[in-house]
Amino acid sequence: MSGARKVYIKSFGCQMNVYDSHRMADTLAPEGFTETTAPDNADLVILNTCHIREKAADKLYSELGRIRVMKQTAADAGRQMTIAVAGCVAQAEGAEILRRSSAVDLVVGPQSYHRLPSLLARTARGEAVVDTEFPPEDKFDILKAPSRAATRARGVSAFVTVQEGCDKFCTFCVVPYTRGAEVSRPVTKIVAEVERLANAGVREVSLIGQNVNAYHGEGPDGRPWTLGRLLHRIADVPGIARLRYTTSHPCDVEDSLVDAHRDLPALMPLLHLPVQSGADRILAAMNRRHTRADFLAAIARRRNQQAAMAFSTDFIVGFPGETDADFQATLALVDEVKFVSAYTFKYSPRPGTPAAEMPDQIPETAKTERLHTLQSAIARHQKAFNAGCVGQSFDVLFEKAGRYPGQVVGRSPYLQPVQVMAPPSVIGSVCRVTFTELSTNSLFGKLTTETERTREPMAMAAGG
Ligand code: 5AD
Ligand code: SF4
Repeated sequence: MSGARKVYIKSFGCQMNVYDSHRMADTLAPEGFTETTAPDNADLVILNTCHIREKAADKLYSELGRIRVMKQTAADAGRQMTIAVAGCVAQAEGAEILRRSSAVDLVVGPQSYHRLPSLLARTARGEAVVDTEFPPEDKFDILKAPSRAATRARGVSAFVTVQEGCDKFCTFCVVPYTRGAEVSRPVTKIVAEVERLANAGVREVSLIGQNVNAYHGEGPDGRPWTLGRLLHRIADVPGIARLRYTTSHPCDVEDSLVDAHRDLPALMPLLHLPVQSGADRILAAMNRRHTRADFLAAIARRRNQQAAMAFSTDFIVGFPGETDADFQATLALVDEVKFVSAYTFKYSPRPGTPAAEMPDQIPETAKTERLHTLQSAIARHQKAFNAGCVGQSFDVLFEKAGRYPGQVVGRSPYLQPVQVMAPPSVIGSVCRVTFTELSTNSLFGKLTTETERTREPMAMAAGG
């Protein structure tokens, strides 16, 4: 037994990487590793990278520059530090990373995390290791489940990966190449994981995947289950007060999912539905498989069923060939849907994707200008939505102590941060809060009642 060793894991990019990082930590725990937040005294540093846009890869190389210095300092003090690069940049660049940074000992792609212990055994023998295969075995079968202690440390809200990969091949996107084909986890595995999380105090579960509504995992009956059916099953897990799912493709909406929003009070009324552009010409060039009208119809269908439903989205500005008129169509869509939040990106050509080869690449200055215009349009709607919440009551899931004594912070059904003066005992429970004031980043409120409201149908909030 080599005694306690420390692992520092830094996640870039999406929530799936955050989830993967936790599972890597859980897998390394039986090997004697405990997590640390200080990279300089770690025995193992893992950078869990994102390849979706250029800047993320740049961040990796500048981070490696800093880590290289740390590794040298450790070596001077007689300590060995192992450096691993995981995630989608690892998958896409493979051995190139070893060539660009001599500090790196291990490059491991997202489908090989369950092999970390054996890969590390090889680096310990002085070998530089690259594993970017898509192995036939299911990594989720082998990856360690989160321990109770680890779960507790991670709070009241948790992510659970239900599907990974994507078969849609939008022309701008690397995901189908880095995460591979769409794979869904079986229902029983997911339910067991959610039960474990609930036992450790988790109250809110976000089901994540690159395209969660393509979910078709095997059910206990041996047949494929839809996401809607899975949500119904998870809502029955005692202790789970809130459910969310992300990210959806606007096209794959089957009836059971729409019904789940009607039938499950635990399913929060905020839907993340990436649209990317408001112009049909661009949507077609992106291979999004839907038009602006299809998207608006998907929104209307949800709103008809649940008036309180709010929407967030993703946009890309400056896709090759995007004209000013196309961009205006995007702005008009923002005004029409009134998204309450959005992630906005400048188009970034990804090597190996069709859009990177398209003519009429848009100059950086135009992209920047469009990004700012779009962001201020979205901010306007976000602010109006937040302001409209003042004076109303919502259910808030309390997450942690606030910055000031006596203050507790939580989230509304719409993920708005909420600050309330309340006893710490409310942490981990859902309480009714009346919103009294709006600051730049959060809402202030006061407790209407301290009674837990989680399991009753009224807890849907945002009523009317
Ligand atoms: N350039 C810019 N943004 C991108 N996204 C995906 N690929 C690219 C790219 N090449 C954005 C999309 C997607 C989100 C996860 O990242 O908006 O929905
Ligand atoms: Fe990428 Fe999403 Fe398109 Fe799949 S659906 S290719 S993950 S943008």
